[in-house]
Amino acid sequence: MKKLVVLASGSGSNFQAIIDAVQNGKVKGEIAGLISNKKDAGAVQRATDNDIPVQVIPYTSENFFSGKLQKQLAEWKPDLIVLAGFLRKIPDDIIKQYPDKIINIHPSLLPKYGGKGFYGKKVHQAVLNAGEAASGCTVHFVNEEYDSGDIIRSAEVPVYPSDTADTLAARILEKEHQLLPSVIAHFINPKTN
Ligand code: GRF
Repeated sequence: MKKLVVLASGSGSNFQAIIDAVQNGKVKGEIAGLISNKKDAGAVQRATDNDIPVQVIPYTSENFFSGKLQKQLAEWKPDLIVLAGFLRKIPDDIIKQYPDKIINIHPSLLPKYGGKGFYGKKVHQAVLNAGEAASGCTVHFVNEEYDSGDIIRSAEVPVYPSDTADTLAARILEKEHQLLPSVIAHFINPKTN
């Protein structure tokens, strides 16, 4: 069985979607553990509730974070590392160590509305300000630059004239919960002929 490690800083609804997909067999793999930089993140609570090992590594400095992260990954030996609402930059040495094994979900149709500073509501507000007719979410490989690694798959939602950043975020989040587990399944489920 292939192993996943998830990194999350926030409420962890995407992490929950991964947990659910593992539990209902859509993702045929094992969650080796959750890494968070915030001990009070909702994601940490979800891991605890589901008996998933958790490692909290505060981002006091890039060096400190990188050293601890490297150690934990060496122990858990993931086949795939999933950033599910992880708000810190992954140190370059880790990216080099795990080529094509780190994926991230971003709440826009990349390459639009990605990069440093585009996170949370700022993404959705920018989409609304630009008058876009559609937005969505994208899963991509993580490289040394924010949100610019190769795109794996994206999913689109309509933008309505009545939308606020909150209503658009909620519509996209629902799509994220489908897209992320299905991309994970694509990478880690055993191939059948
Ligand atoms: C999601 O919108 C994701 O695209 C972004 O951060 C948010 C995390 O939400 N990277 P949650 O913690 O999974 O609820």
